[in-house]
Amino acid sequence: MGFLEKVSIDRGDITRLPVDAIVNAANRTLLGGGGVDGAIHRVAGRELLEECKTLHGCDTGEAKITGGYRLPAKYVIHTVGPVYAGRPEDERDLYHCYWNSLSLAREHAIHSIAFPAISTGVYGYPVLEATQIAVKAVSDWLEQNKEYSITVIFSCFDDKTYRIYQEVLRETETKLGKQKK
Ligand code: APR
Repeated sequence: MGFLEKVSIDRGDITRLPVDAIVNAANRTLLGGGGVDGAIHRVAGRELLEECKTLHGCDTGEAKITGGYRLPAKYVIHTVGPVYAGRPEDERDLYHCYWNSLSLAREHAIHSIAFPAISTGVYGYPVLEATQIAVKAVSDWLEQNKEYSITVIFSCFDDKTYRIYQEVLRETETKLGKQKK
């Protein structure tokens, strides 16, 4: 399967997706918050917070896994995006969120995963740049793990994010198409 057969975009609420794992855009405490973090904890219920307490936090760019509890998803992969400050390491940290979440998914034989637009809300990452980094990281990881079957959904909670993901995936398709020739 090529890159674009494995990747899709969903316009909606990530907590409703019946995938093996949804990714949470958490903070370093892993003890919940607002945005998608708040939504995931609300739907998953208290047991999610109880399990998160046993993880003792998570560094920026790293990923940790818990059960999904009352969510339709079996697992939640918690990752911590960079708080945008226009530094070079912001791009590297955001890239690692996607890369490390996919590697952790593979370790747990997860074959379908949904990502929110990490760091583009409270953490202030400009949506276009963040989307380009997200799509690059996922495309690089899929290229390096060709033999592993996994489908990736980019969950977009608003129209602006949805349109930007459509645009960046179209650009990526063109780029990959040219490389093949
Ligand atoms: N489903 C999908 N996407 C969602 C949902 C949802 N239910 N709720 C919010 N989002 C989107 C936002 O619209 C944004 O596009 O997730 C993206 C990431 O935004 P935030 O949730 O604010 O995450 P982030 O920018 O990474 O900031 C993380 O916010 O909630 C706190 O505890 C969290 O401190 C951490 C910080």
